[in-house]
Amino acid sequence: MVKISPSMLAADFSKLGEELKRIENHADMLHLDVMDGVFVPNMSFGQCVISSIRKCSNLTFDVHLMITNPMRYIADFAKAGADIITIHYESCDNQIEVLKAIRELGKKASISIKPATPAFILEPLLEYVDMVLVMTVEPGFGGQSFIPETLDSVRAIKQMIDASGRNIDIEVDGGITKDTIPEAYKAGANVFVAGSAVFRAPDPAEAIKELKNACEI
Ligand code: DX5
Ligand code: ZN
Repeated sequence: MVKISPSMLAADFSKLGEELKRIENHADMLHLDVMDGVFVPNMSFGQCVISSIRKCSNLTFDVHLMITNPMRYIADFAKAGADIITIHYESCDNQIEVLKAIRELGKKASISIKPATPAFILEPLLEYVDMVLVMTVEPGFGGQSFIPETLDSVRAIKQMIDASGRNIDIEVDGGITKDTIPEAYKAGANVFVAGSAVFRAPDPAEAIKELKNACEI
């Protein structure tokens, strides 16, 4: 099933409540990009903002941690209202321990790779995850152009997951528009993050519908 996870990074932060209302009954999840200015060259928001907006949305909170040593903060994000917590493969060396801890907190665990990280390194981690996030741009900023070569990783991961017989979602993030989504869907992704394409559209609900329809063409 195709799921759209609009990235709040592209929303107007001066009126988050209103922005979220525009997508609440149309999106499948809400993607929340947490950046620490160390793992990526940008900062965004943290657990305080997430726990505030938790009060005005029932969407699945899809929290993407672009932070070093994520173990330090996963309990805070779980408490703030995250439903899915994604950590970056490149952000720590205790990935299995962190993924296990996320599940112990009762949340879905997910791992992400940057465009240059080879897909095969995920194979031993599949039993610990509910989702894999393939970055289709370099993490750090919204509004960048989709990198088509990243779809090789999506295809490789799809094969690995199918061979494992596990039920694991594949999410893609960065530069997703109605022009790039069909190829990502064909490559095997089923969860699509879209920041600019949703929140910068005149009608975000319509933009979500268009993204879904583009997968069926
Ligand atoms: C980038 C973030 C993305 C970003 C996507 O580091 O992980 O989630 O917000 O934004 P768009 O859809 O505008 O590329
Ligand atoms: Zn993201």
